[in-house]
Amino acid sequence: MPQIFINGQPVQADRSQTVMEAARANGFFIPYFCWHPNLSVAGNCRICAIQIEDRSWVEIACNMPVSEGLRVLTDSPKVKEYRKSIMQLMTLNHPVDCGICDKSGECMLQDYHYRYNGEPSISRDAKVRSTKFHPLSERILLDNERCILCSRCVRFTREISKSNALGIVQRGDASLVRASEDHALDADPYSDNVIDICPVGALLSRSFLYKARVWYIKPTPSICPGCARGCSVQVWHRKPEWKLHTLDQVKNVRIERVTPLENPAVNGPWICNKGRDLARIFERPRAEQAMEKGRPVELSIAIATARRLIDEAKHPVAVVSNWGSNEELAALKRTLGARFTAFVKQDCAPEPGERIEDDILIKADKNPNTAGARALFAAADDGIALPAASDLVLVWGEGFDFARIPAKAKIIFLNSYLAPENGHADAFIPVSVQTERRGHYTNFQGTVSAFEPCFPKKASVADAEALFAALAVTEDAPA
Ligand code: SF4
Ligand code: SF4
Ligand code: FES
Repeated sequence: MPQIFINGQPVQADRSQTVMEAARANGFFIPYFCWHPNLSVAGNCRICAIQIEDRSWVEIACNMPVSEGLRVLTDSPKVKEYRKSIMQLMTLNHPVDCGICDKSGECMLQDYHYRYNGEPSISRDAKVRSTKFHPLSERILLDNERCILCSRCVRFTREISKSNALGIVQRGDASLVRASEDHALDADPYSDNVIDICPVGALLSRSFLYKARVWYIKPTPSICPGCARGCSVQVWHRKPEWKLHTLDQVKNVRIERVTPLENPAVNGPWICNKGRDLARIFERPRAEQAMEKGRPVELSIAIATARRLIDEAKHPVAVVSNWGSNEELAALKRTLGARFTAFVKQDCAPEPGERIEDDILIKADKNPNTAGARALFAAADDGIALPAASDLVLVWGEGFDFARIPAKAKIIFLNSYLAPENGHADAFIPVSVQTERRGHYTNFQGTVSAFEPCFPKKASVADAEALFAALAVTEDAPA
């Protein structure tokens, strides 16, 4: 292990590391724009300048390998002077339109300007104008005036998503990031990661554009339920202290955006675009009214009816959701498992046009907790008719064909969304969605991850875990 010296302090480095990596691993901060821990080194922004002791010039830390006895300075007067000039260069043609930029508040250029420059532009020339709102894809806009040509986005599509969808055309101050003409960026299911890794506000999400300022919203750790990978994500929503009281109050309980939560065991720093679109799943019209055969009743009445139906049934069957959390599944097993014959169903199948599976993240099973459900209920739903003797069928979640239920069987249905089947059930009980409760899923590798609530659930909606406890079989129920 080579020993190097950073600002005079001895540091043990790994032979494979660069000075940037050794510095970060030992608590020294060196600024960077183009460098990214998961991408190749481009070395084009030059902000990571350091000085080797006793030399009169600076070099870049992101592309300098460590070597025994290397002595570097990260904050010498020469480094500071050089960084300041690099920041002047970075903002030479940058429009500094932070007031209307979505990246404002989490922009590296903004932060470094105040930290390493802090002065107005020394240039007397007019800024070079470039394209604003250039459509890179159906999901992403590009503001070329804000782009600092770090090439992170280009390298992402070459090295991570492998779509090769982006490149840089022209030369010098006419250089532009552009999408390949075969629309590969539209077909790249990982394209939105370039928005996160763009160090400035050049790459803009069409779905988030001008929707919220980042200081009004906060992230809650969660799990993407879009496939069996179960990527860790941050669900961003309005902070309680910025709750709206008179304007559009839907914004108080709306998912503003979803970003990756770095998790080396599951998804690294990336997610696919489906994970960005969780609002499409969770913000569908909700079922919030308990019913009996389509007739609205109080939630407590529907629960009492369900409990009576369970007590009276001789051959009850449960069709178990693989969107249930480990806690909910365990509650079902504990309270009703001995009484019901249970099958685990697939709530969701691949959507038309969706990538089924790849060797990056996406899995063919489009449900978050098949592994957790099958660990407790071994039998899988085979999609054919249920046992003819079934006299009660408890259906939990979506994706079940009610035509498979024997004609005379009673039905208890737990669902979160409006659906025609809700009105067919003898007892329909609306249940909460993932963003309204906490719990865990087990992914296809057996990794257990947690999700936290973002919004309160309505009083007319049940939590499945508490509901199963309330439906627990009574001592004198038929065996
Ligand atoms: S768009 Fe962003 S990530 Fe891409 S080169 Fe420009 S600054 Fe870098
Ligand atoms: S790979 Fe699967 S779990 Fe991860 S973000 Fe995409 S759909 Fe969600
Ligand atoms: S971070 Fe080293 S040159 Fe850009």
